[in-house]
Amino acid sequence: ELGPYPHYMLKEIMEQPETLRTCLRGRIDRRDGRVILGGLAQHTRLLARAQRIILTGQGTAFHAGLIGEYLLEDLAKIPARVQYASEFRYRNPIIEDGSIIIPISQSGETADTLSALREARDRGAFALGVVNTVGSTIARETDAGVYLHVGPEIGVASTKAFLGQVAVLTLISLYVGRRRFLAEADVARYLEALDQIPDHINTITQQSDRIRDVVEQVIDRDNWLFLGRGFNYPVALEGALKLKEISYIHAEGMPAAEMKHGPIALIDQGMPVVFVATRGSQYEKVISNIEEVRSRGGRILAVASEGDTNIARYADFVFEVPDVPEPLQPLVTVIPLQLLAYHAAVLRGHDVDKPRNLAKSVTVE
Ligand code: M6R
Repeated sequence: ELGPYPHYMLKEIMEQPETLRTCLRGRIDRRDGRVILGGLAQHTRLLARAQRIILTGQGTAFHAGLIGEYLLEDLAKIPARVQYASEFRYRNPIIEDGSIIIPISQSGETADTLSALREARDRGAFALGVVNTVGSTIARETDAGVYLHVGPEIGVASTKAFLGQVAVLTLISLYVGRRRFLAEADVARYLEALDQIPDHINTITQQSDRIRDVVEQVIDRDNWLFLGRGFNYPVALEGALKLKEISYIHAEGMPAAEMKHGPIALIDQGMPVVFVATRGSQYEKVISNIEEVRSRGGRILAVASEGDTNIARYADFVFEVPDVPEPLQPLVTVIPLQLLAYHAAVLRGHDVDKPRNLAKSVTVE
């Protein structure tokens, strides 16, 4: 089953172009600029009138949810908040009329996420699942849903499921957005760009060997930072989680601007700091953050847009990703970070598919 790959995680990373195509198949009507989601067809009015959306999940699913929060507000103009399922469940949550909960889960069996879903439904929320495993408990207990269709994920570190979660949340945001304020031409433009992402991912995975060579140069360092802004802030969180869970290197992810409010004190000579610094509305701000780190001796690894010649002046290493509209950037910027974590773990000699102390699905609260 592994084919030419030494680990499931690498297989799952490298196969993402095909996986994403499967996830998107039949869901994009490019001719009419429409999103087709059978699972939502009966609930279109309810979704378009939603007053508030709560996204929930744990770990990687939470990070996808944070991107979903940005997407729903930006594209569908619905107030949205992501919350850790474990926190949401026990804070006596307020569910108003018109509230929708979106539980996000690869396995569909995560105990924290399941109990948050039950709590929200008991309080009257409509539940829309974003789940991978067909027929899983979370999928069965939701009122409607959109499956990821990314196939079973074997590696404990979630990669292709994250991609599927973000893609599905993008589709949902466009679907609902179109029924609110989003113009047909804008939807069509995003769908065209989305359709090209599988090919873009191919060009990124081809850089795998180079990413390994770069990681080798900083592999002795035990503390890393991951920074990004806007849609790429959750990607920074996800990059740090990936590195932690399989390489056991301590890493923190945060909004790039937050660094100045304390964590900058950590930066010393040679500390690896990964910036997601693609072109977009906050590019200049991110460059200033890079300069702040650089002047304190940090080593900059930047994920940047193809053809950005400026960034080489600031970064020690650059990983290029193709240019895509800002709301779609996480689908490409996460790929180099997955490969970075993978190579770091292999270089440190760890069992990538079965990291210590972790199970694929966490079925106790
Ligand atoms: O099956 P789920 O998506 O509900 O799992 C949630 C988390 O346990 C999971 O994403 C975990 O954080 C991964 N190991 C991260 O790679």
